[in-house]
Amino acid sequence: MQEIPHIPVLYREVIDAFKDIKNGIIIDCTMGYGGHSSMILEANPNIKLIAIDQDQTAIDFSSKRLEKYGDRVSIRKGRFSAVIKDILEEVNATNIKGVLADIGVSSLQLDQKDRGFSYESENLDMRMDKDATLSASNVVNEYSRKELEKILLEYGELRNYKKLASEILKQRPFYSAKELSEKLKNDLPRGKKIHSATLLMQAIRIEVNDELGELKRLLEALEDAKLPEAKIAIISFHSLEDRIVKRVFSKWSKSCICPPEVMRCTCGNNHNIGKIITKKPIMAEDDERKENIRSRSAKMRLFQMDIS
Ligand SMILES: C[S@@+](CC[C@H](N)C(=O)[O-])C[C@H]1O[C@@H](n2cnc3c(N)ncnc32)[C@H](O)[C@@H]1O
Repeated sequence: MQEIPHIPVLYREVIDAFKDIKNGIIIDCTMGYGGHSSMILEANPNIKLIAIDQDQTAIDFSSKRLEKYGDRVSIRKGRFSAVIKDILEEVNATNIKGVLADIGVSSLQLDQKDRGFSYESENLDMRMDKDATLSASNVVNEYSRKELEKILLEYGELRNYKKLASEILKQRPFYSAKELSEKLKNDLPRGKKIHSATLLMQAIRIEVNDELGELKRLLEALEDAKLPEAKIAIISFHSLEDRIVKRVFSKWSKSCICPPEVMRCTCGNNHNIGKIITKKPIMAEDDERKENIRSRSAKMRLFQMDIS
């Protein structure tokens, strides 16, 4: 028996989101340890699943975990923004009935100290795909003051980003996440709920894996694909990600795309590609929040594509 290293967030809500899909293909863009994937396969016995991850450890684990579903499952390695385009070329868009993305890092990636995601790690890596060229070491030891300030402010939402960037420049090179978080300890915010280095680690991780760029490109690929009847479910953990999803879903739901200042519509008023299902994001219930700390910052938004 495999020990499952990651509890899927919003598991009931994800199953509920896809429960009406009776056939066709569901794409899980962030397979991870196969939690959502296996639940979807169980709950929707006649669908096929295409599951993507860029992390070889996750691929190895889930290939075994999902083996029992045979040819109902096809696993692809790579960045979801690129793999989704390949899939869209291979399969008929009408067959794609659901797309799930549970953005971010998995518990196992955080727990494996040699991956460098944790503030206790003995190295500075943080690449989800070990073949990727940019690592945390490049960001911390080579980025300019301006670049460091940008990621600390935007991705870490760290108020004293200027001081932190100065300290990084003064004290580098750093060889491990542990060394980085210990040496910057006095300048990191002291939160009650999270370790002071968590936001610093988050900022570097988002940059290393181009997480916001990936999300934007995934949404663009889905928009371009014009899937006639797919339900899109995006789970995010960072306010910037949630804002991107909210804005894109809002754009997709608008029929008129004329600039606000024009008096009369000239665009044809036929641009919407479906409707928003969740005006407000779905968040975890109290019992899940207690059981799984990661679920506390999870927000899921749903969109129903409808192109006739
Ligand atoms: C939060 S975990 C997903 C957990 C999964 N839903 C489960 O139930 O086990 C996110 C996973 O997505 C992968 N991932 C994140 N961004 C990715 C990207 N741009 N392309 C491919 N995989 C990505 C990570 O490697 C990680 O395994």
